[in-house]
Amino acid sequence: MSSRPPRGGIEAVSAAVLAMSRQLEVREVLQTIVASARELLGAEYAALGVPDDHGGFAQFVVDGVSDEQWRAIGPLPRQHGVLAAMLHEGTPQRLADVRTFDSFAGWPRAHPVMTDFIGMPITDDEEILGALFLANKQCVKDPGVCGFSQEDEDLLGLLADHAAIALTNARLYERSRELTLAGERARIAHELHDAVSQKLFSLRLTARAAAALVDTDPARAKDEIRQVAALAAEAADELRAVVVELRPAALDEDGLVATLRTQANVLDRVHSASVTFRASQVRALPSAQEEALLRVAQEAMHNALRHAEAGTVGVTLEGRGKGARLRVSDDGRGFDPTAVRRAGRHLGLVSMRDRAGGVGGSLTVQSAPGKGTVVEMEVPGG
Ligand SMILES: Nc1ncnc2c1ncn2[C@@H]1O[C@H](COP(=O)(O)OP(=O)(O)OP(=O)(O)O)[C@@H](O)[C@H]1O
Ligand SMILES: [Mg+2]
Repeated sequence: MSSRPPRGGIEAVSAAVLAMSRQLEVREVLQTIVASARELLGAEYAALGVPDDHGGFAQFVVDGVSDEQWRAIGPLPRQHGVLAAMLHEGTPQRLADVRTFDSFAGWPRAHPVMTDFIGMPITDDEEILGALFLANKQCVKDPGVCGFSQEDEDLLGLLADHAAIALTNARLYERSRELTLAGERARIAHELHDAVSQKLFSLRLTARAAAALVDTDPARAKDEIRQVAALAAEAADELRAVVVELRPAALDEDGLVATLRTQANVLDRVHSASVTFRASQVRALPSAQEEALLRVAQEAMHNALRHAEAGTVGVTLEGRGKGARLRVSDDGRGFDPTAVRRAGRHLGLVSMRDRAGGVGGSLTVQSAPGKGTVVEMEVPGG
């Protein structure tokens, strides 16, 4: 008869499952699973191996072995003998003496001696995620005679099913955290590009103008240098804003229309092209949409001034129902948008598209060599 009443087993499994679900890091989940399994079955040693694709183990976690002993054993085991059988066939193994297994090849010198053995694969629907190995059942009576029972196997099977879920969840969690971090990095790269590198570009132009004027017109050179200082201060502010994820201060203080007008005026003064701005019937928009419109307008204006050799750059903002439409057009040299997209090196166009999409809006770029460029963005409003 079984020495363990079934309810006790289920309670123990459920305690183990709870412990597993509290852990989010893969390594901690593995550690909790092995410790739970060892306790559940009353074994001296327990291990859990997650196979890699090269005949070894990506992870191998043990319980019941001291750190010192673990170090003395040496390198991680390979997938051979009974371990390999379980991982490759996905079936449990229960042995009275593991050393009698067909392909048993001996242990490293410091490896503890193991006799009775039970192994249980951890599988989800599609793959073998790993396997649990336990050895040397601690028997109160009849030491040396007792081993793992069918009931132990059933309990371990139950634990392995839950372990599969816990392990998959932990992996998904780690993956989603990586993705969040990667997304955050992309966001910062885009913000830096949009806000700061444009300011630095204007700054460079202004500094160059100042240098050209120093000898012939020191008074105007002085003005340009003051402008350099102002642009540098703005770049520093933008940088700070990117870091703490603030909106451009001007949007809150002056609103979108006034901010766009000021920026167009500044660019008109700094560059040889004429930059004009016109707004009509623009209603207040959700702040995320205003911010996206401002960023896209900035990048489109800068692209026109940097790349187009345009005579005029026109910016218009019009109310459209609850939303608004922005249009930045230039009469410059134009380009082939598909070819640029394929080249994939440039952030500006990608970032504009992301910003429009990010607030439920849309963006179109119409351009062809010799035909000028029109960038349009529409947002839905609130
Ligand atoms: N208005 C325009 N007129 C002419 N060419 C343009 C215009 N806008 C973009 N381009 C071309 O498309 C390319 C890609 O623009 P994009 O803004 O993506 O990158 P970039 O301005 O080169 O670099 P950055 O990543 O700093 O913005 C530019 O290098 C340029 O060749
Ligand atoms: Mg650009």
